[in-house]
Amino acid sequence: MRRQTVPWWRLRPYLQLCTIVLLHLHSTAAADVLPENPSAARFKSTSMWELVTESEPLDVSAAGSQIQCSLLCLRWPDCAAANFRPEPSGGGTCTLLSTQVGTSVEVAETGAVMLRLPGTCRMLRNLHYHTDGVYRHRGLAAPLYCDMTLNGGGWTLLTAAVSNEGWTAQYVIERRRDTPGIDIDYSIVGLGDWLKSTRLSSRPFKYRIEVGGRQRWGGIWSAPSAYSLASSYSNQTEGVELMEMFDSWGPLSIHTPQHIVPWVNTRAVLEGYPLLSTTSELEGQWWGTLVTAYTGHGVSPWILSAETELFNGARLYWLRE
Ligand SMILES: *[C@@H]1O[C@H](CO)[C@@H](O)[C@H](O)[C@H]1NC(C)=O
Repeated sequence: MRRQTVPWWRLRPYLQLCTIVLLHLHSTAAADVLPENPSAARFKSTSMWELVTESEPLDVSAAGSQIQCSLLCLRWPDCAAANFRPEPSGGGTCTLLSTQVGTSVEVAETGAVMLRLPGTCRMLRNLHYHTDGVYRHRGLAAPLYCDMTLNGGGWTLLTAAVSNEGWTAQYVIERRRDTPGIDIDYSIVGLGDWLKSTRLSSRPFKYRIEVGGRQRWGGIWSAPSAYSLASSYSNQTEGVELMEMFDSWGPLSIHTPQHIVPWVNTRAVLEGYPLLSTTSELEGQWWGTLVTAYTGHGVSPWILSAETELFNGARLYWLRE
């Protein structure tokens, strides 16, 4: 007799039925904004993959179904992700993880399913959160300010610079981490690589820069996934592409931003003036700078020809991983 195994895609309708567990959300101000300590959260299966992290799992136990596994994760205070691997005999193994960052293994044949709490604004956006503002959730590494509307939404605010006061390279890495906002000096560049690594594919990431107004004097760039958001070198330039320009500040010159992933000047090159910058450290100029403590250029020297217009106004730096 010929034995046949069920192809994984036959399980798909069943899995899809189970993939989304929506639990009641108590919201604070806006309907889409998560409360600080939610008693419930949304889970969504992202794929037929299993998440493998370096850290020890919080718990490994038997569960009757994927939904039961996700409920176990919900009840576990530090759980941010869960793998459910069904057993042929029914039920399955439920592994709870404290982090959603890791590598993934395709386990399509066994129908294993990975559940993750949203870790970034893009993930929240994919779960249909559409309101701009601060999101707080235990699956997030920190409260995040999300732009859910412009340029397709799903943008996580990395840095807002509204002044040149008090900035240091260390503050670019982290400043006012717990109170994100687009109208204060704030930065979580140090979390950038974590946010980026929540995505399991090696597709390029995007960053957006707005200067002197929303969707003004900056643009959207795409960069290879291996590039670090916390690099202290200005050499992450190969493969960086400007996808969209806000206002017309091109073509590139020493007086414009460069197609270089903003780097953090922890080495104090260029006399330590640029702190977060797209400029090349080899040019001797430092236009294209988002954050500085120098007081001679308003908030920061960004584009020379538009300098008067851009003297003040927020510099906003966003990531969509
Ligand atoms: C940039 O330079 C640093 C220091 O020399 C080096 O470690 C790094 O690999 C370089 N990165 C790229 C993208 O060239």
